Amino acid sequence: MERKMAPSLMCIDLMNIEHDLRLLEKAKVDYLHIDIMDNHFVPNITLSFDFIHGLRKITSIPLDIHLMINNPENSFHYLKNCNPEDIICIHYEATTHVHRALGMIKDLGAQVGIALNPGTPIGVIEDLLPDLDSVLIMTVNPGFAGQKLIPSTLDKIARLRNMLDESGYQNILIEVDGNVSFENAKLMHEKGANIYVGGSSSIFHKESSIIENCHKFREIIYS
Ligand code: DX5
Ligand code: ZN
Repeated sequence: MERKMAPSLMCIDLMNIEHDLRLLEKAKVDYLHIDIMDNHFVPNITLSFDFIHGLRKITSIPLDIHLMINNPENSFHYLKNCNPEDIICIHYEATTHVHRALGMIKDLGAQVGIALNPGTPIGVIEDLLPDLDSVLIMTVNPGFAGQKLIPSTLDKIARLRNMLDESGYQNILIEVDGNVSFENAKLMHEKGANIYVGGSSSIFHKESSIIENCHKFREIIYS
């Protein structure tokens, strides 16, 4: 089963980005999770497309771009120079024409991801499976780091894993995002998650170093 670590850069020390980025490189993380918010789809603004352009100049770690913006298809022109390993993930709830938007991501040459808010049932993506490389299960309500896991989302991971396997789409990866703590990562792993977004309660946990946290996180998701 694929297991990938994706540190959430909205939780990084923004005053020491390059320093901490080199630690993430040393820890061999699989993706850099980049939260882009528009203060409309979610009540917050975090990282930006300019941040992405700057990041590409200093690291080759693939980007896992989580777009928490309305009508994301209107912003894809900012993501033209993505690489094939990058994930561009839009929210199912953020556009009327989700199938068309997913096709536009594919045309950009990136991996195609869709995110579901905690209240959105997994059934809504049934007719999108042929167009997907990953499904992101929000395990908190999107918009802020430091929130607490919504317990019912654990079962949702298992139900999605079952739905994908039963319908012949077992290669679609499940990403989990929101309070993916060391303890919760273990539970999510048992439910069938593949890509783990580590934020303030794990990879960027203040009580230990990024290197120690990544080591502990990797041990858990590979257990
Ligand atoms: C929340 C973002 C998450 C967040 C995770 O909307 O999508 O990536 O940064 O932060 P923690 O791990 O602290 O919940
Ligand atoms: Zn995110």
